Amino acid sequence: MSSAISIMKKFVFFRTILALFFCVSMVAGCTSTHKTIVGEVPYEFTFPKDFLWGAATSSHQVEGNNTNNDWWEWEQTRLPRARSGQACDQWNRFEEDFKLAQALGHTAHRFSIEWSRIEPQEGQWDSSALEHYGQVIRSLRSKGIEPIVTLHHFTLPLWLAHQGGWLSEKTPELFARYVQKVTEALGSDVHYWMTLNEPGVYVYKAYVIGDWPPGVKSPEQAFKVFKNLLLGHVLAYEKIKEAYTRKGWKEPMVGIAQSVLIFRACSDRSLRDRVAARFRHWMFNHLFVQALVRGRAYCLGLFSIHLPKAKTLDFIGLNYYTRDFVLHHGYGFPGILGQACTATVELDRHTGKDNFLSWEIYPKGLHTFLRDFSRYELPLLVSENGLGTDDDTERSEFIIEHLKAVAFAMEEGAPVIGYLYWSLLDNYEWAEGFVPRFGLIGVNYTTQERTVRDSAKKFEEIIRSGKLRF
Ligand code: FCB
Repeated sequence: MSSAISIMKKFVFFRTILALFFCVSMVAGCTSTHKTIVGEVPYEFTFPKDFLWGAATSSHQVEGNNTNNDWWEWEQTRLPRARSGQACDQWNRFEEDFKLAQALGHTAHRFSIEWSRIEPQEGQWDSSALEHYGQVIRSLRSKGIEPIVTLHHFTLPLWLAHQGGWLSEKTPELFARYVQKVTEALGSDVHYWMTLNEPGVYVYKAYVIGDWPPGVKSPEQAFKVFKNLLLGHVLAYEKIKEAYTRKGWKEPMVGIAQSVLIFRACSDRSLRDRVAARFRHWMFNHLFVQALVRGRAYCLGLFSIHLPKAKTLDFIGLNYYTRDFVLHHGYGFPGILGQACTATVELDRHTGKDNFLSWEIYPKGLHTFLRDFSRYELPLLVSENGLGTDDDTERSEFIIEHLKAVAFAMEEGAPVIGYLYWSLLDNYEWAEGFVPRFGLIGVNYTTQERTVRDSAKKFEEIIRSGKLRF
């Protein structure tokens, strides 16, 4: 009996190894060193006239008093020092904030709709909340700013969280029903929709490492949530498209915001670290998008997902911030993803400066991803890119260096349609609270006074000229 068990164990072990190498071979080349030309050639780049220039925010991070969602509940018990409270009070101050964005030359603005305000109880719709977002959209349009609307940015209504959130098989349908409601009410003035923000990050933080609500650490649950998010997107995509056809509105563009992180081996000399970095790259950067494009996600021995429809992306939003180093960490799950490597000695690497959250500033990575994601032959939007810092000069440099990376990628043919800095305002940075200052506009959280930073003006100069000189 015991020898049978040991044979079984060996079988499972070898199957996992085989699966791992199969999956890695599928992504071979993804992280291959794109020869970067950033900084090599002196010249001037002109952005297209209709390039979308602006910034991004999300409801829970700026609106304030979103008391009816799972993050609020989590803050009361788990994050006593980092409660969102009134945040930037943007629920009441959007007009003032959008006037500032307009004065800074922005031509686009990404924000999210708070599901818990639209559907405070299951099946009950708050028409005044829908009307509020109607005003938000009209306010942007009247200022010549293109609204880019996210439908789910990490938060869930409490009633839904209490019945299992994205773990429940009912949630994709419930999400699609909410999306349909929003689209029918607001769609006449919206062209760009983003169904989900960073689904991979959500799964990882909330269901793999348990740092975010509901604080679960379970590979099985993480997998189910991942699958439901995929399905939720596909159903929502169809609802949006159907609503526009029914109403006779111009066909919209529907996408997601995909988080992308450069993953490098902790030690280039270690094959196991390199494999872990490759695997992470595929899992975190490509798997979700690939599944939506192909209508399926497959990894021998690990999972096989079939979606009701393929090609449910009209554009891809990329949220890019930094680079991570990966250390091999076993062959089980989540060990096969490797773990963050923090060692600084013995490694043949030269890292750039860190930001406030110890995220390395690595502009070349944006160039790498814009080229890498060009393979999907879909328009690409930099839907987030930013720096949390108290040094505003550093923020200006950050923006310029990342825009150079965008310019070089476009010069090489990447179909980039816009660049949105994260964030318009300092705001509530989830578990980190109000400490990191990401804003082009500073916020005094006591008085709610706004202060336009110099970096915002540097960004404005580039927007207005439409040119970047090297
Ligand atoms: C992204 C999130 C956004 C913000 C930035 C700093 O991952 O989408 O809400 O927290 O990081």
